[in-house]
Amino acid sequence: MNILDLARFQFGMTTIFHFFFVPFSIGTGLVVAIMETMWVRTKDRLYLRMTKFWGNIFLLSFAVGVVTGIIQEFQFGMNWSDYSRFMGDIFGAPLAIEALLAFFMESTFLGLWIFTWKMVKPWLHNLFMWLVTAASMLSAFWIITANAFMQHPTGYAIKNGRAVMTSFPKLIANTQAWYEFSHVIAGAIAMGGFLIAGMAAFKLLNKQLKEKDFFKRSLKLGLVVGLVGSIAVFAAGDRQMSALIKDQPMKFAATEGEFKNSPDPAPWKLIDVIDPVTHEEKFTIEIPYMLSLLSFHKPYGSIEGMDSVNKKLQAKYGDQNNYYPPINTLFLSFHLMALFGMAMLGVAVLGLFFARKKSQLLFRQKWMLWIVGLFTFVPFITNTTGWLVTELGRYPWTVYGLFTIKQSVSPNVSVGSLLTSNIIYFLLFTFLAIVMVSLVVKELKKGPDADEESTLSSEQEVDPFNKEAFE
Ligand code: HEM
Repeated sequence: MNILDLARFQFGMTTIFHFFFVPFSIGTGLVVAIMETMWVRTKDRLYLRMTKFWGNIFLLSFAVGVVTGIIQEFQFGMNWSDYSRFMGDIFGAPLAIEALLAFFMESTFLGLWIFTWKMVKPWLHNLFMWLVTAASMLSAFWIITANAFMQHPTGYAIKNGRAVMTSFPKLIANTQAWYEFSHVIAGAIAMGGFLIAGMAAFKLLNKQLKEKDFFKRSLKLGLVVGLVGSIAVFAAGDRQMSALIKDQPMKFAATEGEFKNSPDPAPWKLIDVIDPVTHEEKFTIEIPYMLSLLSFHKPYGSIEGMDSVNKKLQAKYGDQNNYYPPINTLFLSFHLMALFGMAMLGVAVLGLFFARKKSQLLFRQKWMLWIVGLFTFVPFITNTTGWLVTELGRYPWTVYGLFTIKQSVSPNVSVGSLLTSNIIYFLLFTFLAIVMVSLVVKELKKGPDADEESTLSSEQEVDPFNKEAFE
């Protein structure tokens, strides 16, 4: 492995690991805020206990997300210093706003949420959680704005070999940023829903479980949120696909495995085994008309193939580069994301149907609970494959059309230092993953706390200056 491969591997590993926890905390935070609102509105104490129990799991994901986020930021200075020099003027503003505004807001209100159970009115306490959720989404927006610039640069000029910002409004009005943001947030909402539904399903598999109503209600609420998220992720993904056809046709053709211009109408390749060197198709299963329908929402229309796009890119940017991205990875990642995305929608609809008061079949059939339980892991796969499409599909650019991956790597890192940091990060992430999983499992095994009537300000006046208020 050379310096570039090692630096890319490290960035990929760090990003994938970090992004396990980002949508985890955004999504579960939202569900916890909804649970608390249900409690404030209905005064049903089961919702309060749900808020506290799932709130603990949300807090764990938040903590690990922050740690991995810090390591993520190290990457830019350590391995990608030339990229940081090129992009600093653009990257600086959104990342500073993210840290100073969104992250501060998130941590401040999270602190208030954790420590003021006994001190403020329930509606105000609930407002803190909504503000945490809003701030985490705002934080995602600023990071995505920087990423969107790398996919589709707007509001910039090149001066002395560096990108400088000429228009902040244009940077944030970038359509790519809004498509990406909607897709990522919808994916996070779906993830929050499925995580809670899935974990509740695993608990319900235990016949001796005492807290059946607690987990049944959690499962149902999780599926409702999962359904809303799955519909939204699909709608946003569709918009992104249309944008890709226009802005990054190579990435799009690679996700669909089209080397040559497709026939009109275009069939959708469900399975496609391609030789990336000879571009020879070895085996394929196609669904007629489907690609035209998905791409143009019409039963006709052809897709430009990679060979044709490559010629155009070579004419525009020079033929010193090969513009073909890693085709098999893109094809597989995109198909896994889209197929699992549809499966999530199906599981949410059917799950809710069979969980109806009249039927309750979902809670009586073990295999159904197993399916919902296993869908705990599916959003991790879809989110990861999504980022693989977005990032690997931009090859050979870090900033599309402006700066290549080869230009971006730090000039002073060595294979030895990269190997060492890769091993250290790998061990650290494995350790963090083990800690996170074991803490979540421990929390799940312990189950919700018994109902304590006297913990809330609505029932008891507490002097906030009294030391006992913090116990
Ligand atoms: C159901 C059909 C889906 C479609 C049609 C779809 C479409 C897309 C497309 C076209 C991209 C690449 C965008 C780009 O490079 O600019 C993408 C990226 C991504 N997708 Fe999906 N997606 C779907 C489902 C999902 C699901 C279920 C999740 C997660 C729960 C998800 C998470 C992501 C993420 C995290 C990215 C990377 C960030 C981004 O570019 O927005 N996707 N998706």
